[in-house]
Amino acid sequence: MIDPKDIDFYSLGFNFIATKTMFMANHKNGKWEDGKLLPFGNFEISPASCVINYGQGIFEGMKALRAKNGEVTLFRPAENSKRFNFSARRMLMPEYDADKFIDAVKRVVKANEEFIPPYDSGGALYIRPILFGYGPILGVHSAEEFKLIIFTVPVGPYFPEGFKGIKLEISKNYTRAAPGGTGSAKTICNYAGTMLPAKEAKARGFSQILYLDAIHLEYIEEVGAANFFAMINGKLATPRKSGTILEGITRESILELASKKLGIEVEEREISYRELFKDSCTEAFCSGTAAVITPIASVNIEGNERIFNDQEPGEITNKIYKLLTGIQRIEIEDEFGWITKV
Ligand SMILES: Cc1ncc(COP(=O)(O)O)c(C=O)c1O
Repeated sequence: MIDPKDIDFYSLGFNFIATKTMFMANHKNGKWEDGKLLPFGNFEISPASCVINYGQGIFEGMKALRAKNGEVTLFRPAENSKRFNFSARRMLMPEYDADKFIDAVKRVVKANEEFIPPYDSGGALYIRPILFGYGPILGVHSAEEFKLIIFTVPVGPYFPEGFKGIKLEISKNYTRAAPGGTGSAKTICNYAGTMLPAKEAKARGFSQILYLDAIHLEYIEEVGAANFFAMINGKLATPRKSGTILEGITRESILELASKKLGIEVEEREISYRELFKDSCTEAFCSGTAAVITPIASVNIEGNERIFNDQEPGEITNKIYKLLTGIQRIEIEDEFGWITKV
């Protein structure tokens, strides 16, 4: 483990760095045992474990931020707990009590406090809860033992571009999720399949893929690990909850901020990628815990490019970014009750 004093918090990217402490809880004989804090480290697992063989695993992504006044905050952790349990049910795993989940997150953050990047670095302590089928199995069915772990990593921006526009490639070759599948659960399986497409897109000079729906290859779904928004005809549009997108907590918050604080009409609907190529589409961005709000400079499909706003963050993108990060950093009043202090 690196000594936190040796970390340059001002030049962090989104890369793994071990911190001091993790939380672990086991589910055995049909019930959760009391979880505990342990030094971050390796553990043994059977080669026949369900997670390794059949991908029975889920995760969450959250952030603890250091505010200007030194306080440490979480953003809507109850929503992460809800989604964690939704994902657990979809992958036939036991749910974890919401209060215990939030308490465990707070304990891990406190135990790793020295790793929280300072306020002015713009970084955060990323929190990664995972739950997986730990026990050995052979046939394709659920494990009987499960493990929940929460660990943390100090991070900087997810896209190295920071609050600058990224270039996205709209893929007609790859899709991320199909109706009836697991797209709206945060299961590990959804992510392994996006690594090759992302690598190929990066080799062509793009930051990520913008995925289309699996049936028509027409309607926008989401970016690798972030939700999609565009200003179209003066309204803020985002793909509807179709069961194939991950229903982001940042996405939900942006919809509220845009309609209640900025007075912008919001639409959750099917958005054809062709709409992005028309003048009525004036700006676009993506959102997520890791991505925060990342402006989209351009989209490209089969060599046809649409550049937004001279590649600069758009007016609405800027306003929403300021509102959201202002609330998260407790510089703007938390009128929605989204902030939990650690
Ligand atoms: C596929 C995918 N879409 C969207 C998001 C954004 O969700 P949230 O705003 O809850 O972080 C994430 C991850 O965080 C994701 O993995």
